[in-house]
Amino acid sequence: MLQISSKPAKRAILVIFTKSTYNLLPFFDLDEKKSIHEKLNDGVQIISFSKQQKTYLLLPIEMDATTNEDSLHEKLRIRGNTVYKTCKELKESEISIELLGNIPKEQLISILLGINLSCYEFLKYRTKQKSFNLSIHIDPIILDKESILEINTITESVQITKDFVNEPVSYLTALQYAKEMQRIGSAVGIQVTTMEQKEIEEERMGGIIAVNQGSSAPATFTILEYKPSNPKNENPLVLVGKGVVFDTGGLSLKPTRSSMDMMKSDMAGSAAVFGALHAIAKSKLPYHIIGLIPAVENRPGYEAICPSDVITMYDGTTVEVMDTDAEGRLILADALHYAKRYKPELVLDFATLTGSAMRAIGKEASVMMGNAGKDIKKKLKKAANFTGERVVEFPLWEEYGDYMKSDIADLKNLGPVDAGAITAGKFLEHFTDYPWVHFDIAGPAYVASPYNYRGKWATAYGVRLLFKFVQNLCTDELTRTEKKSRNNVG
Ligand code: BES
Ligand code: ZN
Ligand code: ZN
Repeated sequence: MLQISSKPAKRAILVIFTKSTYNLLPFFDLDEKKSIHEKLNDGVQIISFSKQQKTYLLLPIEMDATTNEDSLHEKLRIRGNTVYKTCKELKESEISIELLGNIPKEQLISILLGINLSCYEFLKYRTKQKSFNLSIHIDPIILDKESILEINTITESVQITKDFVNEPVSYLTALQYAKEMQRIGSAVGIQVTTMEQKEIEEERMGGIIAVNQGSSAPATFTILEYKPSNPKNENPLVLVGKGVVFDTGGLSLKPTRSSMDMMKSDMAGSAAVFGALHAIAKSKLPYHIIGLIPAVENRPGYEAICPSDVITMYDGTTVEVMDTDAEGRLILADALHYAKRYKPELVLDFATLTGSAMRAIGKEASVMMGNAGKDIKKKLKKAANFTGERVVEFPLWEEYGDYMKSDIADLKNLGPVDAGAITAGKFLEHFTDYPWVHFDIAGPAYVASPYNYRGKWATAYGVRLLFKFVQNLCTDELTRTEKKSRNNVG
């Protein structure tokens, strides 16, 4: 984590400098500068130098006017990851930051965020907790305190999301998940209410009940509310997240070679919603937001729903369940119906919904679709590109909807093999009556090999995207509410 301090660290200094100013590097004599210059010409990303028991890590930054802004920030975060790896290699657990040359604030923030995000490890189940902790000391003259704290808040929220996703179901049942959200959420001013199995049954949330039926652990439906005293929005923004704490596929059991072990991550959408709300609440952003988290375990068992069963959803729609492994859409549909009561200005849902989305685009982006207007989608894409949590938009043309019609019920939960991400989106669309955007994060949420500063396994995809989106909404010069009151005055 970043420490606000003007004291230089004992052993290591990280000098971030523009390539053109290498000549001004303090602490080095001519020969050393020559060697640094050679390394720079070789395109080395980070140069380490020791002198009088001190380590100097030199991070050259190229200001290339032709690079686009978004890819530059991604590059800088990845540089941050290189700094982290170098510190770990050299066992330098404390560094302090020095700047040389004109490095814009936003760029410095991206480097620091890249270092900070790289620090995550999931150590809970290691009996020998061999860990490396890095403290980064930074003088508030170099970067204002607010920005330093924001980097730490985002990092902390990302870590919370990652911990949730990396937790196996042996610990993180739906009920345990709800309890932890209660504990962590209330500490930052989020109001957390959980409906338990009995209430879910009384409400007749048919999708949630059906999916959890094969499990002996109860389902939960958790409502998170962050309502600051001075919100910029009139009607709330609602965030919905898929919370399948484990997805075996149910009676349509996942085959042996389909990496079922990865399915503890099938609640990553809900964990991203929680993490984002955590960051937003902790930063006290003036935006009213509701989070809806349906949490279930999808298992086979005597009580489990059978392929061909017809269920009645929360909104009354009947669904023929052709494949019990297409469970995410069933629980999300009930949550999307629940969202209607808020008259939301916008609903965003995050879900590890289909293998089809992952095959289409890999870990590099989520698949985004929805009926919300161009303006909203543009803002979402802007935040996505800026944070490197990229999105690719897929269409929701009417024709795709025909694939989800059932012979004996209103809908079925399974379409043909082609266009699986879209037909899943089409299914969800049926349960919305407000501006809505769906993010299928099956690709980027959980990765089997290290992915730069995002790390290995849980990546917390969505947390930074959502935070940035809401932050931009708060600072947009004219929010809808202001526009309205201005019109009224005029
Ligand atoms: N949780 C899975 C989707 C998934 C697959 C997420 C791989 C992450 C990695 C989802 O519930 C599922 O099983 N989807 C099926 C849907 C199909 C039966 C229509 C799929 O994608 O195969
Ligand atoms: Zn499934
Ligand atoms: Zn699933």
